[in-house]
Amino acid sequence: MIEEIRRAETDAVARAANADSLDALDGVDRDELGKRSPLSAFKRRLGQLAADERRSTGAALNAATEAVRQAVAARRTELTAGERSTRLAADRLDLTEVRPSQEIGHLHLVTSVIEELEDVFVGLGFTVAEGPEVEDDWHNFTALNFGEHHPARDSQDTFFVNLGRPKEVVLRTHTSPVQIRVMEAQPPPIYSVMPGRVYRNEATDTTHLAVFHQIECLVVDRGITFGHLAATIDRFTKAFFGKGFASRLRPAYFPFTEPSAEFDIQRPDGSWLELGGSGMVHPNVLRNCDIDPEQFSGFAFGFGIDRLAATRHGVTDLRELMSTDIRFLAQ
Ligand code: FA5
Repeated sequence: MIEEIRRAETDAVARAANADSLDALDGVDRDELGKRSPLSAFKRRLGQLAADERRSTGAALNAATEAVRQAVAARRTELTAGERSTRLAADRLDLTEVRPSQEIGHLHLVTSVIEELEDVFVGLGFTVAEGPEVEDDWHNFTALNFGEHHPARDSQDTFFVNLGRPKEVVLRTHTSPVQIRVMEAQPPPIYSVMPGRVYRNEATDTTHLAVFHQIECLVVDRGITFGHLAATIDRFTKAFFGKGFASRLRPAYFPFTEPSAEFDIQRPDGSWLELGGSGMVHPNVLRNCDIDPEQFSGFAFGFGIDRLAATRHGVTDLRELMSTDIRFLAQ
């Protein structure tokens, strides 16, 4: 019987070692150590043996039962550790995972055009300045030589803010007030560009927004002439749009520049696009910023970024630029 017990032990230990899951091991435990197991059957047969044989067979049976118990316990430890590491691997959160590029998102068209414009002007030797979007009348109008009754001050064009004296605080209607802030903050020479958001009380349509973006350019130094203005606009046009583009200036009127000009760019197909306004900084504006117009002169220009971004990327309705429609933004 001892031989049979050893064979049963060997079989049971092998089954435990080969169990490939905790469920399978529970089965082995039940079959080999439970009430209906071969080892239990041997135990029941012990009573039929003579006293001597019963002692030695009983000892062999105890040893076999213990060996099977240990084999099951050892395999349970292995399987538990294995299942835990499998679960950990499945639950692992890879924070370095790179999503496909179309799901990462990208800068808004207007933001990326602003960054490109800054790069071009920085490449031409300009610094970048910024001013507040909520302005006072002095910076937005008065220091820029707007007469007291200039129509642009009218509530048709301007969002007035309910602060200070009536009509004293406005949402800036253009980036030109940043010219004043730059000239107030530093003496010439000045070579700066000033991008930003501006606000006008406009009915919106395909070419007009009530909230849009402009970039202003200001140069103040000794001996600056209209030739410098024309050459800078041309250099910028070619650097930003490419060599196939040209620029032209047309007479215009702005209170803060004299003489003033609208400037257009010519596309390679020969058609013209109006970009913005420009001119020589008016002597009154220099004086308002404590700069002596007998010693210094300057030029400025400013243009709408939204129209430029729309033209460049084939957007036919400016209002799309303000929409949150993901089908437009994802393109
Ligand atoms: C100005 O705002 C002047 N400050 C420009 C300037 C700067 C002149 C420096 C001289 C020296 P204007 O109002 O024309 O000018 O606007 C300039 C550009 O802003 C326009 O050519 C156009 O491109 C853009 N723009 C004007 N109104 C809107 C609008 N409602 N929606 C979108 N773009 C607009």
